[in-house]
Amino acid sequence: MARELNPLFSVLTVLGFILVRILVVVGQPQVPCYFIFGDSLVDNGNNNELRTTAKANYPPYGVDFPEGVSGQRLGFADFIPPYANVTDQEIDIGVNYGSGSAGIRDESGRNLTLYKLGARKVAVIGLGLIGCTPAEIANFGTDGKPCVDSINDAVKRFNDRLKPLVDGLNNDNSDARFTYINITSISTPQEGVSLPNVPCCPVREDGQCVPNSTPCPVRDLSVFFDGYHPTEIANIGLATRSYNALSPMDASPYDINRLAQL
Ligand SMILES: *[C@@H]1O[C@H](CO)[C@@H](O)[C@H](O)[C@H]1NC(C)=O
Ligand SMILES: *[C@@H]1O[C@H](CO)[C@@H](O)[C@H](O)[C@H]1NC(C)=O
Ligand SMILES: *[C@@H]1O[C@H](CO)[C@@H](O)[C@H](O)[C@H]1NC(C)=O
Repeated sequence: MARELNPLFSVLTVLGFILVRILVVVGQPQVPCYFIFGDSLVDNGNNNELRTTAKANYPPYGVDFPEGVSGQRLGFADFIPPYANVTDQEIDIGVNYGSGSAGIRDESGRNLTLYKLGARKVAVIGLGLIGCTPAEIANFGTDGKPCVDSINDAVKRFNDRLKPLVDGLNNDNSDARFTYINITSISTPQEGVSLPNVPCCPVREDGQCVPNSTPCPVRDLSVFFDGYHPTEIANIGLATRSYNALSPMDASPYDINRLAQL
């Protein structure tokens, strides 16, 4: 099978890091390289040396990821390295630019304006339901509802305009393909079982785990590890369904698997 040299980029990704794993389960990489942009949901170490509290380089973070990079053999020889640590050889395979608390507004932690790098396949992952995170629920209350509706309304307004932007990019660039991944759809449980929106670890006021605290023992029954971030099992679920969509709403126009094969 001829392999095209089409880098797969994830922009605004909330789970690119995990997707790498899925991409590689097939035995060999489906794309030659993979670049990841995003915030703490994909930051795999870029913030460790930055002046920020948005880090996850202390226990109990990583409890379900004990072997870290070396344990998981992906089509890519390893996980995509953090930009902070990347070597010249690794840069051909991809870089993870994810940075905890990064955003599109100037006041957010980092300013990601790295688009014109020659990507030909781009997955744009929309905002997740931030109003359902334990930290926002603790901050704003829910008025008896499961989530903070005002925040989720804002998420919806953002995503409703993001998707047409992706459609426009497909129309305007015939040599590149873009897809929108709908996290709202993907995080809707299939069997209608919804787990409580509570953190698995004891959290600080900023929603991060208390350093060296003991996380809940059965993490496979939790969606949230800390006040904002999904557990390993939840991330795997999100990534799996982004890769192979279960509903036509999940990914538009392509799921990641299809995007990689185009
Ligand atoms: C980066 O490299 C340093 C030194 O080689 C190492 O100690 C550190 O763990 C690495 N960090 C990450 C995030 O891989
Ligand atoms: C972010 O990028 C924009 C556009 O390049 C620039 O005007 C702005 O000063 C940058 N902000 C920060 C905080 O670096
Ligand atoms: C995402 O999926 C939900 C269904 O879960 C749908 O209501 C919403 O319109 C979709 N968003 C976009 C931008 O397509």
